[in-house]
Amino acid sequence: MGTMGEVVDGISNPNQCRFILDYGLHHLSSLGHLSLLDDGLVAGWNSTTTYRPATGTRISADNWMCRSWGLAHQAAIPTWPHHDADGYNTFIIPMSGVKFWVALSFKNKKLGFEEMSELAERLCDSDDHIEDISSQMDIERIHLYPGDLAIQPSGAFHSVYTPDASFTIGGHFFTYNTLHLTEMARRIDHTSGYLTTNQFHEHTQETLCRMVLGIPYLYPGTKLYERPMLALCVMVCNQRPYTVKEVGVMLAEHQDAASAICVRILKHLGYTRTSAKNELARIDADYTDPGEEIDLSCS
Ligand SMILES: [Fe+2]
Repeated sequence: MGTMGEVVDGISNPNQCRFILDYGLHHLSSLGHLSLLDDGLVAGWNSTTTYRPATGTRISADNWMCRSWGLAHQAAIPTWPHHDADGYNTFIIPMSGVKFWVALSFKNKKLGFEEMSELAERLCDSDDHIEDISSQMDIERIHLYPGDLAIQPSGAFHSVYTPDASFTIGGHFFTYNTLHLTEMARRIDHTSGYLTTNQFHEHTQETLCRMVLGIPYLYPGTKLYERPMLALCVMVCNQRPYTVKEVGVMLAEHQDAASAICVRILKHLGYTRTSAKNELARIDADYTDPGEEIDLSCS
């Protein structure tokens, strides 16, 4: 444990490797020019609280705090492979210094859950050696300089090297059309979260329920796709397979109303909760494919 002051005091000390993750940026929500990407905030929370007021009894501040944070690093610090918790999309903007961001993705997109989960554990286990599984990964290094913007999709594995003292801002957000990636990431973290991610969010179900409640109020031209929608409905109706075991299940406000909308959407698309779950787990499917565009206007 330490303070930002201690990190700054030792910023030129070659014998120190200190860093601070998730430094609160309390003056920001999502950044202005990125705010429309954030379906969880815009279509979820901000479009639904008038007709579904928040009583505050179960709402976690992390619903907003996760939308902006800072990373403070001294020099020469590696961050081991992981994916960001709960399948959020992430944006990153270095303000000073440089980041070597290494994007890691599975070459075979039809691995199936069991094989993917096992590979993810090996990738993220610092006792294992990435060289042993590198033939199964696509690996790309991205150099991020001050002012650069990187947007990382849900569940994307990555490793980072910070060669120089740096301060970076970033944030997490959900989008309707990447929720199939969120679903896979959360399923992996349910069993392997102690290895595959570096943080736990307790509030995710609250934002996902708000995104369901917001669907009837989406702009009519909004494009939605089948697999992300199945993923949203399955996650909202059945939390347990997506909750990190150390955190446990926490019911969200308006859970029943959101679940009822999900059942209706699934029926409109020709699925039950079970068949939707099976569709998402289909072993011959490309897990990154969002599927066909769907029309929910008469559901
Ligand atoms: Fe990360």
